[in-house]
Amino acid sequence: MAGSKFSRGTLFVAALAFCGASFAQQGATKDLGKREYDSNCASCHGADGKGNGPYNPYLKRSAPDLTTLAKRNGGVFPIARVYQTIEGAGAEHGSSEMPIWGQDYKVKAGEYYMETPYDPEVFVRTRILALVDYLNRLQAK
Ligand code: HEC
Repeated sequence: MAGSKFSRGTLFVAALAFCGASFAQQGATKDLGKREYDSNCASCHGADGKGNGPYNPYLKRSAPDLTTLAKRNGGVFPIARVYQTIEGAGAEHGSSEMPIWGQDYKVKAGEYYMETPYDPEVFVRTRILALVDYLNRLQAK
């Protein structure tokens, strides 16, 4: 009994420390989309989104320029397609070199919330929507 109480307390302290760490990270920028982009996408698509990330030479197919998504789609930013590409819902992306973030974010949601009840779908959707919004802002005029 005492043992289980202790471990719950320890988890609580660990969770607090974890929250503190993520607040500190947020200090860098409040822009969730940019933060997610910089840490998950810039390695291939480039810091400016133009497809010149440092990882690009190692890909079989180079990562496309993400600042011309609207231009290449008749001037309209293809929100649904971009969302699905990131989520990895489209069957054609299963074989692509681009990681499937929908899955990755679900795993991260588990780490983030630990024992707190949470809805992984909300965590995943929030991040993907923030990325879609950020990419929309990157579009070349
Ligand atoms: C390992 C390298 C890599 C990483 C990391 C990566 N991508 Fe990609 N991405 C690619 C490649 C290669 C393609 C083109 C071929 C394909 O569809 O797989 C692509 C395609 C795309 C497309 C479709 C572009 C078009 O012209 O239709 C979008 C949108 C996209 N990526 C967004 C992202 C976002 C957002 C992230 C971060 C969450 C990300 N990518 C992370 C390699 C990567």
